[in-house]
Amino acid sequence: MSNINIRIATIEDVHDLSFLGKKTFDQSFGHLFEDRKDLTDYLDRTFSVEKLRSSVVKPHNVYWVAYYGNTVVGYAKIQLDSPSGFVESTKPCKLQKIYILKEYLSMGIGAQLQELIFNKAITSGSEYIWLSVLKSNEKAVRFYERNSYAIVGEHAFSIGKEDFDFWVMSRKL
Ligand SMILES: CC(C)(COP(=O)(O)OP(=O)(O)OC[C@H]1O[C@@H](n2cnc3c(N)ncnc32)[C@H](O)[C@@H]1OP(=O)(O)O)[C@@H](O)C(=O)NCCC(=O)NCCS
Repeated sequence: MSNINIRIATIEDVHDLSFLGKKTFDQSFGHLFEDRKDLTDYLDRTFSVEKLRSSVVKPHNVYWVAYYGNTVVGYAKIQLDSPSGFVESTKPCKLQKIYILKEYLSMGIGAQLQELIFNKAITSGSEYIWLSVLKSNEKAVRFYERNSYAIVGEHAFSIGKEDFDFWVMSRKL
């Protein structure tokens, strides 16, 4: 536990964020893509260093990086003031990403990240936090339920030729 270290990410971390974004998404969902190119196009688009460079400095975005010893093993991102049709709040915050490398799952890193996220969202004035999670991602749904999120809606999203179904979950802060 004491080997785990988490801090807010800065522009210096964009290469690590790009690596983690691509690697953890592939580890978690790569098997769901029949055509590997749909996946690699999405990863290149979503986690390019250029895109992250502009994203990380936006005042409504907050990123964290997690280390195990000297190894960077996970990251998270929230977007402050991010409304959802499923959440009635004037001050909603979206948990957009929370991803740990496969080799470091179930070590409590996610729980520590989640705690920091709640604290930051509260001190930034958010009243609710919400997220979208793939319905088939049972481990993540369990993790969110343990952290007092409840299902409040559902929606679909396509990447390339693949269609995915999501739960929307939220909790009061
Ligand atoms: C969801 C995710 C971020 C959780 O992070 P994590 O570091 O694995 O989570 P933690 O170790 O803090 O907690 C999970 C484990 O701790 C244990 N645990 C922690 N607190 C517990 C509690 N109060 N009661 C019971 N078990 C508990 C559980 O054994 C659980 O293991 P399990 O999920 O294998 O059953 C992580 O699984 C992940 O990155 N998954 C892949 C990417 C992903 O799906 N991201 C979310 C996309 S929406």
